[in-house]
Amino acid sequence: MTRLRARLAAALALCSLALLATACASPRRASAGQPRCLDCHAVHNADAGTCVTCHRGDPAATRAVLAHRTLLRGPAAAHAWPQGEAVRLGNATIERAACRRCHVIGGRGSSVGASLDRVVHGREQAALRDSIRAPVDNMPDFGLDEVATDRVIAALLAQAPRVVADPSYRVWFTDEAEREPGAFERHCGGCHRLLTADGPLGVSSAGPHLAGLFTEFHPKTAPGDVAWTPTLLRRWLDNPRALRPATPMPRPVLTADEVDEILRALGSGPAPPASVPDSR
Ligand code: HEC
Ligand code: HEC
Ligand code: HEC
Ligand code: HEC
Repeated sequence: MTRLRARLAAALALCSLALLATACASPRRASAGQPRCLDCHAVHNADAGTCVTCHRGDPAATRAVLAHRTLLRGPAAAHAWPQGEAVRLGNATIERAACRRCHVIGGRGSSVGASLDRVVHGREQAALRDSIRAPVDNMPDFGLDEVATDRVIAALLAQAPRVVADPSYRVWFTDEAEREPGAFERHCGGCHRLLTADGPLGVSSAGPHLAGLFTEFHPKTAPGDVAWTPTLLRRWLDNPRALRPATPMPRPVLTADEVDEILRALGSGPAPPASVPDSR
């Protein structure tokens, strides 16, 4: 079995070497106007598009390394079938992980993180895989394997407009030294992270990431499998064990103002007190 594979690989290597020297008179040699992919590969899925519709790559390149530079391999190439199995499974993962708490995907979601609609078509597959499998501090690690990740990539590509509007990476600057820690950082940030329009808060992932807690994009994780509301959060902060007896989260000690401030940080609190005192 392994010997057969080795022989196949050797044959492939020989053929591609020959192609590099353009001495390989392949019977499938592409005619003018056809992608050069056909110099080396057989046609498949022709009814659904050309090679680059699904795999990207440079259709004019004669060397594999150049032709493959932006290539999509494996299930990620199945993005061209929006109703297909790979995209369906990828979307199920996106729902389960609630990626829309932080990202816009298919025109829906919160924009505390990068809009994936705007970046995915401009990214290499390896970079997308890395972003998802070895995420930045402010993105949870969902423990997806490579196949599951490629299906997610297929689902992201299937929903994003092909025009790359903004390929830039979003960078959050935190100036810990200069900023007074707010109530969230003092009382919650030791265990939770939060992304806000002004940047990230919190330093540890001992507890769940709280981005988008009150939005429709957050999973229904409140006790009783319901959505989190500000009222429910106030009860939770009053005493977590009253709602979930076995929870490891300790009861926080907070003033009423701190509770309001934390709710504002979470995106749904009363307006901050006016800085100019009311003269009436
Ligand atoms: C000069 C020959 C050559 C050209 C031109 C070429 N390829 Fe390839 N391709 C290969 C070889 C050899 C491999 C196997 C080694 C590898 O994976 O890089 C391969 C692998 C692939 C794979 C991955 C297979 C896998 O199992 O991961 C895909 C997809 C692919 N090519 C698509 C394309 C597309 C699309 C084009 C045109 C834009 C193209 N190739 C142009 C030679 C070529
Ligand atoms: C409609 C989408 C689509 C089109 C068009 C398409 N492919 Fe694919 N291709 C795929 C998918 C999906 C896979 C399998 C991915 C997986 O491993 O699950 C694949 C697999 C491959 C592989 C890997 C070898 C294999 O058999 O698994 C190569 C090489 C390849 N395609 C090259 C090409 C080339 C060259 C063209 C143009 C002639 C092309 N593809 C056209 C979607 C497409
Ligand atoms: C709690 C917030 C959060 C969640 C949930 C989240 N991410 Fe992220 N993600 C981030 C942050 C922060 C970055 C870093 C770039 C930025 O600021 O958006 C990022 C970056 C990315 C990037 C790289 C973007 C680029 O510019 O190249 C991809 C791809 C990505 N996330 C995919 C996902 C997917 C898929 C999911 C769900 C499985 C997910 N993310 C869930 C916060 C999140
Ligand atoms: C000592 C660590 C710690 C501190 C401090 C802490 N939490 Fe938690 N929190 C946790 C852990 C661990 C969980 C997961 C509990 C569970 O699954 O029952 C949690 C769960 C939660 C949840 C439920 C999230 C979900 O999706 O299930 C919310 C909301 C929450 N915390 C808010 C806060 C807020 C707001 C603060 C600050 C006032 C805070 N926590 C302080 C550890 C902490």
